[in-house]
Amino acid sequence: PSETGRVLSIQSHTVQGYVGNKSAVFPLQLLGYDVDPINSVQFSNHTGYPTFKGHVLNGQQLCDLIEGLSENHLLYYTHLLTGYIGSVSFLEMVLQVVERLRVVNPGLLYVCDPVMGDEGKLYVAPDLVSVYREKVVPVASMLTPNHFEIELLTGLRITSESDGLKACNILHAAGPSKVVITSLSIKEKVFLIGSHQKVKGQSPQQFKIVIPKIPAYFTGSGDLMTALLLGWSNIYPDNLEKASELAVSSLQAVLQRTLADYTTAGFDPQSSSLEIRLVQSQDDIRNPEIKLKAESY
Ligand code: ATP
Ligand code: PLP
Ligand code: MG
Ligand code: NA
Ligand code: MG
Repeated sequence: PSETGRVLSIQSHTVQGYVGNKSAVFPLQLLGYDVDPINSVQFSNHTGYPTFKGHVLNGQQLCDLIEGLSENHLLYYTHLLTGYIGSVSFLEMVLQVVERLRVVNPGLLYVCDPVMGDEGKLYVAPDLVSVYREKVVPVASMLTPNHFEIELLTGLRITSESDGLKACNILHAAGPSKVVITSLSIKEKVFLIGSHQKVKGQSPQQFKIVIPKIPAYFTGSGDLMTALLLGWSNIYPDNLEKASELAVSSLQAVLQRTLADYTTAGFDPQSSSLEIRLVQSQDDIRNPEIKLKAESY
């Protein structure tokens, strides 16, 4: 095993552009991780374009890949990372993967971005919600839901910061010791809320980071965010505040560069969603300057 970690990343792949594994693998490698990607889909481009073509991996095909690794004793990982998952059968197979990885490494951390929807709209099959709630949350080490997703997972309607903190407590009681609400919109403001329960049953350390809104819509930013949170929270395992400051600061730099490049090219940044400038942002990923600070509750 390497010093920093070995990550199995089960996410989408797009030929062109940066979502899923395309926005998670490279940053994790830059932070020093060995990353083994399993592509849960291979599409020409992300689904926000007028059309897309490609193939979806099914649960059995995921199982085959895991079986091949297992036969050769290659199932040692320090982290499992999952993002968008399109079907219940695939999600059920991911649960089996978690079990198998924990047989090999009982300390395996499962970082789960419970991608279900955004801004009140579900974009997965509705029957995935109860599987995330009842089976995935209990085995996750860290969860990175957005506003809508943490409402789905807890059944709480979140209209204030204190509602957000309460929702984190509900998730801690169900399983994960680290919860990061990657974006919470309250009265025209956007917050990241982090919550780290260092000892089971005790009250968690909680904080917020106020995120300045950039007037554009990005794809792949959520996937990049979760990858950076995994990367930095493993480097600073007892300091989720610092890990979040580093992740948010990197992300803001990437998004600002993306906006600037599109604008320079004469593109209207509000006309469609923007592909993040990932390769051009290596320095901001390796060495982010902390510009946004966490405030403890
Ligand atoms: P999920 O992966 O579950 O969809 P999400 O909805 O939080 O999570 P994004 O909306 O992409 O994913 O947000 C992830 C992070 O990206 C936020 O924490 C924020 O830092 C940043 N971000 C995304 N869009 C913007 C924006 N327009 N302005 C400023 N920051 C943004
Ligand atoms: N994965 C696929 C295949 C997509 O088409 C998209 C967005 O269109 C995403 C992931 C979204 O990623 P994010 O939530 O990071 O913007
Ligand atoms: Mg969002
Ligand atoms: Na998220
Ligand atoms: Mg997302």
